[in-house]
This record gives sequence, C-alpha cells and structure tokens, in this order.
Amino acid sequence: MDSFALIIFGITGNLVQKYLLQALYDMAEKGLLPPKMSIVGIARKVMNKKDFKKYLYDVLHMENIHHRHPIKQNIFNDMANRLHYIDGHLDDPQFYKRLNKFLDTLTKKGINCSNRIYYLATYPDLYSHVFENLQKMGMNRQKNGYVRLMIEKPIGNDLKSAQSLNKLLLGYFSEDQIYRLDHYLGKETIQNILTFRFSNDIFEPLINRDYIDHIQISATEDFGIGARGGYYDMVGALKDVGQNHQLQMLAFSTMNAPSEFSNEAITAQRLKILQNLKPLPQKVVFGQYEGYTKEDNVSPKSQTETFYALKTYLENDRFKGVPVYIRAGKKLKQTVTEISLVFKNPQNRLFKHITGGTEANILIYRITPNEGIVLKIATKGPGHQAKLDSEYMQFCYKLDPHSHYIPDPYERLITDTIRGDQTFFNSAEEVEAQWAFIDPLVVKKGHPHIYKPGSWGPKEADDLLKADGRVWLEPSMDFCRI
Ligand SMILES: NC(=O)c1ccc[n+]([C@@H]2O[C@H](COP(=O)([O-])OP(=O)(O)OC[C@H]3O[C@@H](n4cnc5c(N)ncnc54)[C@H](OP(=O)(O)O)[C@@H]3O)[C@@H](O)[C@H]2O)c1
Repeated sequence: MDSFALIIFGITGNLVQKYLLQALYDMAEKGLLPPKMSIVGIARKVMNKKDFKKYLYDVLHMENIHHRHPIKQNIFNDMANRLHYIDGHLDDPQFYKRLNKFLDTLTKKGINCSNRIYYLATYPDLYSHVFENLQKMGMNRQKNGYVRLMIEKPIGNDLKSAQSLNKLLLGYFSEDQIYRLDHYLGKETIQNILTFRFSNDIFEPLINRDYIDHIQISATEDFGIGARGGYYDMVGALKDVGQNHQLQMLAFSTMNAPSEFSNEAITAQRLKILQNLKPLPQKVVFGQYEGYTKEDNVSPKSQTETFYALKTYLENDRFKGVPVYIRAGKKLKQTVTEISLVFKNPQNRLFKHITGGTEANILIYRITPNEGIVLKIATKGPGHQAKLDSEYMQFCYKLDPHSHYIPDPYERLITDTIRGDQTFFNSAEEVEAQWAFIDPLVVKKGHPHIYKPGSWGPKEADDLLKADGRVWLEPSMDFCRI
C-alpha cells in the first residue's frame, strides 16, 4: 500500500477521541497502515511534542465503550511516531502556509504527501474556510497522487442547507474525492444484509409485498444524552439518527439487487429506496423524556425531541402498501438497534387453532446488541400437548467460529477511503433524498409528548401502530447470547 498523509482537522475533539484514534490504533496493530504513513492533527490548543504525546496516551487509555482492549506499548510508540500536531486557527489563511510547509517537510522525510486524506472532524461553519484556503494553496489539487476528503454527518440541517454544502464541496472537490461518512454503513452487521439477501436465493423471493406484512426499524437507547446536550438540543432524535442511520438501514434491507457489487450499482439501488419514501407528516410522533430540560447545556424550555416514531411507505411495486414503522429514542426501556421484517400470517395455516399457531415469522437484522441475523419460526413444543413454540434460527457473530472479530466501522471506512472505495459512503443525492423525506415531517413539530425514562416512549407512538392493528415488537434478548 502506498504511503499517504492523513490530515485531521479537529484532532482534540470528541469524535476523534471516541472513535478515530482508536480506529487508527487498531489499524496500526493489524498492519493496515503503510510504514511511512503519517497523521497530522490540527486544533487551536497550543501543545508541544511532549504534550501531544501525552494527549495521545490519555485518549488511548481512557475508558471507552468502543475500544476496550489493552494498548500495547510498541503499537503506541508506532502511533506516536506517525502522529504530528500543528496548532492553528482554521479560519486563518496564514495557518495553511504553515501546514503546507509542514507537509513539504514530511515529504522530504519520505512520506508520500501527494497522497492525502483530509478528515473534517470539526465544526461545519469552518468548512468553507478550510476549502477556500486549501484551494488558495493548491492543496486540494491532485498532482502526483490522490486527494480525498472525509466528511462527517450532519451534511446540512435540512434539504436546502445540504444542497448548499454539497454545492460548496463540489466547488473544491469532485464527487469521487468526497467520502460522506455515515458510520452505520461501516458496520459489519449492516454490510452483511447485502450478503444475506443476495447470496442466499431462498429469502429474496419472499421479501416483497406478497409476503411481508410490515417493517419495523428501532434504534433505542436506555441512556440519556450525557454530555452531548449542546449538540443534541439543536438537532433532536429524528435528525440525529433518523435522517441518516435509520433511513440507510431501510435502504439496505429493501433495495433491489444491484447489477454488480460496485459503488455505482449499490448506491443507485439505495438511492431509489430513499427517493421512493413517502413522508406522512400526520403520522409522526415526537417525545421527550421527563427531566430532559434539566440536562446540562439544554434549554429549560427546550421542545427538542429525544424520541420519535413514524410511519411511512415505499412507493415502489415491490413494497407498495407495506407500512414501515421507524422509531428511535433515548432513556427507553432497552438499548437495541434492529430491522424486523414481519411476514404475513396466511389464513390457511394448518396449526392456526393451536396455542402459538398464529405467530408471525420475523426476519431480524440485529445491529446491536447480540449482533446477528435471525428468523423467528414456529416449532412443535415438545411433549403430548399440541402447542407451538416460537424459536430463532440464528446466525450470530459472537457464536460464529469463523468470525474472528468485527472491525470497528471507522476502521473499515478509513480503510475504504485509503483504497478509494466509496461503496459504503453516501453520495450527495442520497443525503439530499434523505432530507427531502425528513423536511416535511418537522414542519408542524409542536410540543413533544413527555414520557417516563425506562418506558418505550409516549403512548401516542403505540397508538400509531394500534390504529393499524399492530404493535411495536418487544426486542428479544433470547438469541445470539454467549
Ligand atoms: N462527537 C461525535 O460523536 C460525532 C458523531 C458524528 C459526527 N460528528 C461530527 O464530527 C464533527 C466534530 O464533532 P466533535 O463532537 O468532535 O466536536 P468537538 O468535540 O467540539 O471538536 C471540535 C474540534 O475542532 C477544533 N476546532 C474548533 N474550532 C477550531 C478552529 N477555529 N480552528 C481550529 N480548530 C478548531 C477543536 O479544537 P480546539 O477547540 O482546541 O481548537 C476540536 O478539536 C462535527 O461536524 C460533528 O457533527 C461528531
């Protein structure tokens, strides 16, 4: 693999501390970073070499639910040798002269800085300064190598701002240089949906309106907003996870088979789903957990939702008339992220008069916890009585002897960017289609319904399904347990 420079704007921020440096450590440990690759971190804080090394040490050693394994001294040393720090203000044109000069110094040391990846781990209002100044210095131009840009969600705050940001990006970089991250796309469990669906021909003929009664997508958490009040209060649940992660989950589980395993073919199919989604503003429920307005950095009068539930439809032949219910929220009963395809219950079932005889089959893609893909089926309850039991046929990562490890999504996505593979990144059109669906849902938001922490959200979310004769599925913890 060719050497390159990874330039991280905002190296002292929360995202970098939680995910990026851990992912880079793991990549160093697995030999996924070429020997002469360097990382240049930028922030305003003034730090010398020793301070920065201590910062790296502290970040890698802090309690982190995303990174629990021990830090090896030799890998830490390797990381420390690769990492460099330059303090500077991203809105200061003079800073870019220093950055350029520094990259020249690295080049002289044999690091191929013609290949470079810029990672925007800082505030969106700084992006225009960054692009403008990189361009002025000719630093966005691909000369003897590649220049790629990784950019985090949110891409905008609504369709209009997303369009402006995409326009801004395309003023300085071409689409094949822009890697818009939704870290859910880097999750092994999400990527496996494609393999499951398009490598096992027995299921695909059943995934359509003839057999599927409805679809449920849940991303629920049993904890609150923690220290993220300042950010969360401006955004809310629907924009934080609904606009991006959950719509992508829907796209992966309902898209048609791509003509080939390529970025273009897969993205085109995801896009078709996103563009075919029907927003139903009268079928959205917003909730807020009791006590939210007392959280740090949250306005005492905040009406931001910490929960939402919605109903939608896909306007395509395959799923016409199949309701899709999506919910997400904080301080709920359980932490679980999953997609459930609930099958229809045919009238002519042989065992329909027997206890358990009318339970629906459910195909579940479980993203977290107990990751896996399971099919809920009916089996004969053992014994003399006529009764049916519900059991799970399961593929579980934790129980699979061939699955040695699940790579962290950031590790996966950085690796893809190095390889120049955009398959699991969002195109401008996808992001805009997502906003086009969300925008009409937030127009008449009003007061959120207050719900008790530890519940499944406001009663109105249950009513949404009750009106259709359905209920939210109680997530099962019975499968894929170690
Ligand atoms: N945190 C997450 O879990 C998460 C998840 C998904 C997406 N994101 C996105 O990732 C981006 C970063 O989020 P974050 O939570 O990491 O933010 P953050 O903790 O506030 O970090 C911002 C970083 O930018 C630097 N910075 C701010 N102003 C600067 C300036 N004028 N010049 C130079 N450096 C400056 C900060 O360092 P100094 O203050 O020392 O300059 C810091 O390193 C945002 O776009 C966010 O939406 C974050």
